[in-house]
Amino acid sequence: MDFEDAKEEIRDRLDIVEVIGQHVRLEKSGQRFKGLCPFHQEKTPSFNVDPERGFYHCFGCGEGGDLFSFVMKREGLTFPEALRMLARRAGVEIESDPMAGEKRRRRELLERAQEVACERFKRHLFTHPAAEPARRYIAGRGFSRETIDRFGIGFALDSWDDLLGALAAAGINATVAEEAGLVKRGERGSHYDTFRDRIIFPISDPYGRVIAFGGRAMDPENPAKYLNSPETPLFHKREALYALNLARQAIADEKRALIVEGYTDVISLHQAGIESAVAGLGTALTTQQLELVGRHADEVVLVYDADAAGARAALSNLEVVEGVDIASSLIVLPENTDPDEFVRENGPDAFRELLEQRISPIEYQLRMIFTQHAGRGPDGAGLAARDAVEVLLRIEDWPRRDEFINRAADMWGSGDPGRTESMARVLKFEITRKARGGQGQARGNSPRDPGFISETLTRPVSGLIRAEAELLALALDDYDTALTVVTRLEPEDLLVEDDATILVAMQEQLATIGRIDPAALAEGLPEEGGARGRCVELTVAHVPWTAGENDEVREAQADETIRRLRAHRRLGGVAPPVARELTDDEDETIVEDFQQLQRMVAEGLNSGELSPDDPLVAQYREACRRARGSTGRGFVGDALLREHTGNNARKTWTPPTDEELTALGRSPATEPGSAADRYSGAQMEDESDAPRPDDPFAVEDGDPFSDDD
Ligand code: UTP
Ligand code: MN
Repeated sequence: MDFEDAKEEIRDRLDIVEVIGQHVRLEKSGQRFKGLCPFHQEKTPSFNVDPERGFYHCFGCGEGGDLFSFVMKREGLTFPEALRMLARRAGVEIESDPMAGEKRRRRELLERAQEVACERFKRHLFTHPAAEPARRYIAGRGFSRETIDRFGIGFALDSWDDLLGALAAAGINATVAEEAGLVKRGERGSHYDTFRDRIIFPISDPYGRVIAFGGRAMDPENPAKYLNSPETPLFHKREALYALNLARQAIADEKRALIVEGYTDVISLHQAGIESAVAGLGTALTTQQLELVGRHADEVVLVYDADAAGARAALSNLEVVEGVDIASSLIVLPENTDPDEFVRENGPDAFRELLEQRISPIEYQLRMIFTQHAGRGPDGAGLAARDAVEVLLRIEDWPRRDEFINRAADMWGSGDPGRTESMARVLKFEITRKARGGQGQARGNSPRDPGFISETLTRPVSGLIRAEAELLALALDDYDTALTVVTRLEPEDLLVEDDATILVAMQEQLATIGRIDPAALAEGLPEEGGARGRCVELTVAHVPWTAGENDEVREAQADETIRRLRAHRRLGGVAPPVARELTDDEDETIVEDFQQLQRMVAEGLNSGELSPDDPLVAQYREACRRARGSTGRGFVGDALLREHTGNNARKTWTPPTDEELTALGRSPATEPGSAADRYSGAQMEDESDAPRPDDPFAVEDGDPFSDDD
């Protein structure tokens, strides 16, 4: 009797008044019974039982229901428990699943069909003349007799009804055979064998009962290399694992399962003595499969080919693994190799060695990212950092995350300390920022936007803009370059507005802490307009001409870029807000003077010999502050010079004549910083909104100094 029937029967046989009456003193009141409610405290009875309809109800607390709900609530039972208890009392027999018997019989029939089929396939492989090519094929794949037996490998004849007939002879009709997935029904209603002319790999449940088959075509031209049984009541391919029955013991012993992709991979590994290998069944790994393995193992090891397809499969399967409470790791095989080929060629020891070197999913993902972006020059670093940050953020454990940040930086640097360090820095910076909760996505070009870091780096830019970026990138990374840049360039020399902002911030930072801390520097920049994002980019950018080069090369390159930037400005590339050109001699003096002070301050602060309150520091800071002027732009050396020489320095400033300006295509009247306002006292007014005259050297139109476009 099923639950519904049993319920009715129990209701019929038991008296609700009697059942409830065991817990509550009930008194008849008209058609009903009344008592003190057992579900809440009360003094006057508002608990009613209606024997006619089989209900109880309390007008005091609102509780109500039938016989079963009363027992459930009163005794704290689940419905099946209450049902069983009352059934016993009523003398009603219940079957927990009324269809169980029927289902069990059906299942047994399907299992029997699989058995018959399996036996027939096996026999064909060994005895049938038509199986000769299959025997040769299997021998050619290096499977031993023992392996063939262990895995129950067989062969399906090239026939439409060989199995159909065998099943019929065993008393299994076509309908059952069809439900078992062994035969199919054609358009005209007749049945035919599912597997024809294929090597057969039986698929078993964890207890070794055959539930399905995989069939491999031997003809490489066959479009369906493998054909698997359809879903049946016995076989749900998302819940099954190939060879789990054979691997179960090894998995339990090692507490670890190897998950490979193919039947033959499993077979070859087992034959080589690596018996903890199982495979999915041609689908992506599923949660159910992992949970199944997880009953025996603490760790799953996923094995993939190093090619693109393998990587894709690995990455998508890793997502599934992440959702399951089981440790995971990966083995990466050489490109275009599967485990079957690998063990056959290299032997079990080589495979075991790979197993020892298995890597964590995070490491795998980082490797994939860095491989993907390596060799892309400056752009690669930004892209790699962006992607790596996404991966690293998924590590919730902080010390472990730090460990991986360093590992990632090492991977990227591959021996180059500069590269390693700058990657570590940008990763830390971005991660701290994001982990802090990244307050909103203010603008599309926020560095929080994962697409941003790489964006401007990948944008095609003219050679000089790129050179400028490289110069600043190096300055952010290298103290000496930072000093040179800060002393020899004015913000106005720079082609990119954000670079000018960064230069000013660098001056300030050198002045305050005596060194460049790119992360802190970026933090201090306004996010609006993108200066901060630009700074992050530059911090991570790998400058090609510094890689493995000595200081001389670096200096020469930095020099060259500085020279080009200044020349570009002199020729009108960008409107000069301070319309004055220094002679080379003056330039030299300023640089030396300033550098001397700056070094003294920087080194003093670094060594602790100078306190930040020292007058020398104050003097230096003031020089920098004044140099920036009201717009935060300016030339440190300029201010410094004034600081040292009073206002004398001004005398050496030679503004361009109106003729010169006209020659440059600008009207003297509208030119900011022209003779009219040049000596107004404020060092520089914000000229960034000033319209730029048409300019043959405007960067948008290409760069006459560019050497690579
Ligand atoms: P592979 O194409 O890698 O084959 O498919 P394999 O396992 O290396 O087999 P051999 O060595 O060529 O004989 C991997 C797995 O993907 C599923 C099968 O489960 C196969 O083992 N597959 C592949 C299919 O289900 N159907 C196909 O047509 C191909
Ligand atoms: Mn293979």
